[in-house]
Amino acid sequence: MELRNRHLLLGITGGVAAYKAAELARELQRRGATVQVVMTEAATRFIGTATFQALTGQPVFTDQWDPRIANSMAHIELSRRADAILIAPASADFLAKLAHGLADDLLSTLCLARSRPLLVAPAMNREMWAQAPTRRNIAQLREDGVRVLGPASGEQACGETGEGRMLEPEDIAEDIVAHFVPQRLAGVSALITAGPTFEPIDPVRGITNLSSGKMGFAIARACRQAGAQVTLVAGPTALPTPRGVHRVDVRTARQMHQAVLDQLDAPGARPGLFVAVAAVADWRVANASSSKLKKTPDGAPPVLQFAQNPDILAEVAARPAAPYCVGFAAESEDLERNGQDKRARKGVPLLVANIGHETFGQDDNELLLIDAEGLQRLPRASKQALAAQLVAEIAQRLAATGAAARAQAPTP
Ligand code: C5P
Repeated sequence: MELRNRHLLLGITGGVAAYKAAELARELQRRGATVQVVMTEAATRFIGTATFQALTGQPVFTDQWDPRIANSMAHIELSRRADAILIAPASADFLAKLAHGLADDLLSTLCLARSRPLLVAPAMNREMWAQAPTRRNIAQLREDGVRVLGPASGEQACGETGEGRMLEPEDIAEDIVAHFVPQRLAGVSALITAGPTFEPIDPVRGITNLSSGKMGFAIARACRQAGAQVTLVAGPTALPTPRGVHRVDVRTARQMHQAVLDQLDAPGARPGLFVAVAAVADWRVANASSSKLKKTPDGAPPVLQFAQNPDILAEVAARPAAPYCVGFAAESEDLERNGQDKRARKGVPLLVANIGHETFGQDDNELLLIDAEGLQRLPRASKQALAAQLVAEIAQRLAATGAAARAQAPTP
């Protein structure tokens, strides 16, 4: 319910993608928003007002002179009620009107009369999207502070393939959620590990654990929503990649270790934040077989030998110019003492302990933050809600360390 108490005005313009706006209205409401639909006359040629009236439980407006709103001030009334205005699909023609400040119907007039943010999800044929006038209009809209969501590339209703498809409703809804999140991690590059690892015994068998990856994926999503550039190094899990997150899939602890080092040493923005959420196997099978182990005639079981895996978190934390490191712990006894010990052992400023024994696979959790200042409890909530709170806590600490480092740096 991340859009609870948000009032959105969903403007629909004339394009085939208008049929997807029905799904979008549902998706926004599913996340807690109230949705007021306004359609252009052309949009009503593609999909009926009755559909949106039924889906949103609100009257749908198309006409500037609608007698249901007093004083013929529908454009002011409707635009003032909304926390944000979203045009999806936004046709090439409507974008041109917005870019030039034309106001000749209810939707274009209320956009011009707005005092709230405007977001547009363009949808058009690839040639229309690529044409110089559309390029100019989009550039102008961006300059005017309008957020442009997408478009995506792919197959188009006209039978052609290219850029210009409206984003999928779920992706648009994700962008709307992120729009309302304070950008506490803007400019930060974050590296996150999540999920279990899988240590092979032979080509068809292995040792793994019950980590679902849900907490790590929720943190990756929350970091992205807070404005970070996020790379997620994920062990084997079927979870979908959060929108806007760069995902690197790995299987074993050693692959995870290598992927993390590759990211830290890659050219470009060096991660300023490392959150190790993965449940990394401490041991791998040193004598893993390259062919499938078979039963022996005498029934003797295979003997496995183990070798220790690298401790990714401790190694990253010990690097010169290490990112701000956050570790996780799944202790069940004496959380405070064991947590402080582990924080020191790993050399990290912040350790997050899962409270209670069994959080693997669950949708909610309860956390204890352990740092140099002491303890802070985040009470039981969904992993997604906790991830958002944790990101706010991390951002605060990150800003403080940045300020401290700047204070220590010699003045040029
Ligand atoms: O030592 P322990 O496994 O309890 O530590 C948990 C924390 O250390 C988690 O943040 C986990 O992601 C990280 N870790 C790691 N590499 C390992 C083992 C744990 O990064 N080999």
